[in-house]
Amino acid sequence: MADLNYRFDDITEQYASRPLAEVREYAKNNTLSDQLSMEIGSNKGQFLRGLAVENPDTFYLGIEIRPKWASQANESFEKEGISNAHILSADAFHALPILVDDGQLKELFVLYPDPWWKARHRKRRVIQTSNLDMLAKKMSPGAKLWIRTDVGPLANDMRADLNAHPEFEPIPLKDYPLDPFPYSERDTLTIKKSLPVQLLYYQRV
Ligand SMILES: C[S@@+](CC[C@H](N)C(=O)[O-])C[C@H]1O[C@@H](n2cnc3c(N)ncnc32)[C@H](O)[C@@H]1O
Repeated sequence: MADLNYRFDDITEQYASRPLAEVREYAKNNTLSDQLSMEIGSNKGQFLRGLAVENPDTFYLGIEIRPKWASQANESFEKEGISNAHILSADAFHALPILVDDGQLKELFVLYPDPWWKARHRKRRVIQTSNLDMLAKKMSPGAKLWIRTDVGPLANDMRADLNAHPEFEPIPLKDYPLDPFPYSERDTLTIKKSLPVQLLYYQRV
């Protein structure tokens, strides 16, 4: 059962009141699988749509910080009759403590996270040690973390944080998925421009 009573400090509660209310409402009205598949940074939903169509028996929950993109994606899912995907609009790290129980996440996709180049913005990065601590708690043993990026220095930083974290280990190459995952918006662009993409595939130990 999600933790509907989880509260952040007053400033966060005030600043993020709309998305927090939406996340709490969603958690109240929906029971999520105890083997949850999730994406952080779903953008306009292209990747989640692909996964949902390919795997009609699995429900996919996306978290996208920009409300306009989340609602556009949900409208298109509805029009296309896709009922096994939904995108909530919130900061993923505010949504997770409310929505997801410890050990509930089975797989998490983080595709092309924003690099946040400036030192003072680094704390907004999705993959960084403090967020990995929380993700490790929410993931079950053996749960998969699939990350892709076309930003070399960000890949180096994320890999360093993941390799240093005691709860994560790289997925051996032999266990990489045989079928390629669907393309996200950014995948489409990197393929068109022939940009090199790095795969950071890890699992919860
Ligand atoms: C560079 S885009 C990549 C989008 C998409 N995953 C793709 O591969 O095309 C990064 C996305 O993450 C979203 N985002 C950034 N920080 C986030 C956070 N803390 N929680 C949820 N979404 C976030 C952005 O709004 C944006 O849609």
